[in-house]
Parts: sequence; C-alpha cells; structure tokens
Amino acid sequence: MHKCYLLVVGVAILAIFSLSQVIAGESEESMCIPMGDIVIEPPDQIESKRAAVTFPHATHFSYTCNTCHHKWDKEAPVLSCMAANCHDIVAIPKNVEGTKTDPELSSRYYKTAYHSACIGCHKTIKQQNKAIENAYRSTGASIQSSGPTACSECHPKE
Ligand code: HEC
Ligand code: HEC
Ligand code: HEC
Repeated sequence: MHKCYLLVVGVAILAIFSLSQVIAGESEESMCIPMGDIVIEPPDQIESKRAAVTFPHATHFSYTCNTCHHKWDKEAPVLSCMAANCHDIVAIPKNVEGTKTDPELSSRYYKTAYHSACIGCHKTIKQQNKAIENAYRSTGASIQSSGPTACSECHPKE
C-alpha cells in the first residue's frame, strides 16, 4: 500500500548494543509511519456519496504530528481519527428540538471532523494569502501553497 518508515520513539540507542539487539531490544518502541498516500474512506456503515480521499501524509510533515494527531502522547500508537471515542459518530447528530447541537457531539461526527480539519486549514491559508495580496503595501510575507478546498479536488469525480 504505502512505504513505511520506522521512527524510534524516546529511548536513545546505546552504541554498545549491536544492531540486531537494537531490533530485538524489548525497551525499543518503534512506530510505522505511512510516508505515501493514505486513502481515507468512510466507515463501513456509510454508503458513500463521494469518492474516497487520497491524503498525501508526508506532504504535511512541516506541521507537528500533534497538529492533527491532537490526542497522541508521543508514546502510544497513533490511532485512526475514527477510533472509538474519537470521531466515531457515523451519522449527523440530530439536535433535540429547541436546543443547539452540542459542539462536542458535532465534532465527533467523522465527516465534520475531517472537513473542519482538512478544509479548515487549507481555507485559512487561502485567506491569509488573500490578505497578503490585498495589502496596500507589501508586508514582506510570502504566498504559501494551501492545499485543496473544492469538493472534486479531494473527492475526484468517479
Ligand atoms: C495534516 C495532518 C497530519 C499530520 C501533520 C500528521 N498526520 Fe499522521 N495521519 C493523518 C491522517 C488523516 C491519517 C489517517 C488516519 C485515519 O485513517 O483515520 C494519519 C495516519 C497516521 C498513522 C497511521 C495510523 C493508523 O491508523 O494506523 C500514523 C502512524 C501517523 N499518522 C503518524 C504521524 C506522525 C508520526 C506524524 C508527524 C511526523 C504525523 N502522523 C503527522 C494526519 C496527519
Ligand atoms: C494544518 C494544516 C493542514 C491540514 C490539517 C491539512 N492540510 Fe492538506 N495541505 C496543507 C498545506 C500547507 C498544503 C500544501 C503543501 C504543499 O504544497 O507544499 C496541503 C496540501 C494538500 C493536498 C495537495 C497535495 C499536493 O501535492 O498538491 C491535498 C490533497 C491535501 N492537502 C489533503 C488534505 C486532507 C485530505 C486533509 C485532512 C485529512 C488535509 N489535507 C489536512 C495543510 C493542511
Ligand atoms: C481537503 C479535502 C476535502 C474537501 C475539499 C472536501 N472533502 Fe468531503 N471529505 C473529506 C474527507 C477526508 C472525508 C472523510 C473520508 C470519507 O468519508 O470519504 C470526507 C467525507 C465526505 C462525505 C461523507 C462520505 C461520503 O462519501 O458520503 C461527503 C458526503 C463529503 N465529504 C462531501 C464533500 C463536499 C460536498 C465537498 C465540497 C463542498 C467536500 N466533501 C470537500 C475531505 C474533503
């Protein structure tokens, strides 16, 4: 599927250990980081309306891991966004009549979570770029590529 790189978390590798011991070492914790494209599909229960989204993971590594993996403690394995008790609600949360939908509940709806993270960040950059371009005097700030915000750029037409 995609290439994987190993990241040794925490523990420093002591020179006195041989390589094989390092690999077999019990105190070592390593993690497989997908470096290529990750195809993000809706949960199984969903009959999808749009094509799956191809997410170039490493293109985003100028950000810290916790920008997206916001609950990751840098030790435990990185969980999928849709893991239990995370963004695990598969249908749009309906609000009880006369009440506002609990924002926490909304953000547990997987689609809202992905859209606000992915489109939200790309849009913010576009807005910043527009402000830079519209500035009467040059601010010296440079235009940054933003990532897509149009539906078909993430969900290609099938
Ligand atoms: C811009 C957002 C973003 C950044 C930054 C990011 N990731 Fe991810 N990462 C994702 C998304 C989205 C997935 C796919 C998760 C899913 O399928 O729900 C993912 C998946 C992963 C997975 C696989 C998880 C699994 O489900 O098995 C690992 C491991 C991972 N990332 C590690 C990292 C590390 C380490 C960094 C920092 C170097 C990092 N990521 C930076 C968004 C990001
Ligand atoms: C915190 C900000 C941030 C988040 C969150 C984020 N992106 Fe991006 N994305 C970027 C930036 C910046 C670029 C432009 C990178 C470049 O061209 O160097 C980009 C580029 C892209 C590209 C175009 C890559 C290319 O090669 O042209 C795709 C596709 C993309 N993002 C998808 C996603 C998806 C899907 C998610 C959510 C899972 C996501 N992004 C989340 C900042 C973000
Ligand atoms: C930056 C990337 C990005 C953009 C732009 C984007 N989406 Fe999404 N969308 C996602 C991701 C990631 C998911 C979660 C994975 C999935 O369900 O396919 C998702 C999920 C969905 C889903 C639920 C799953 C399904 O296929 O039924 C729908 C519907 C959807 N998006 C419609 C849209 C529409 C309409 C637009 C334009 C207004 C749009 N998306 C723009 C990334 C994006």
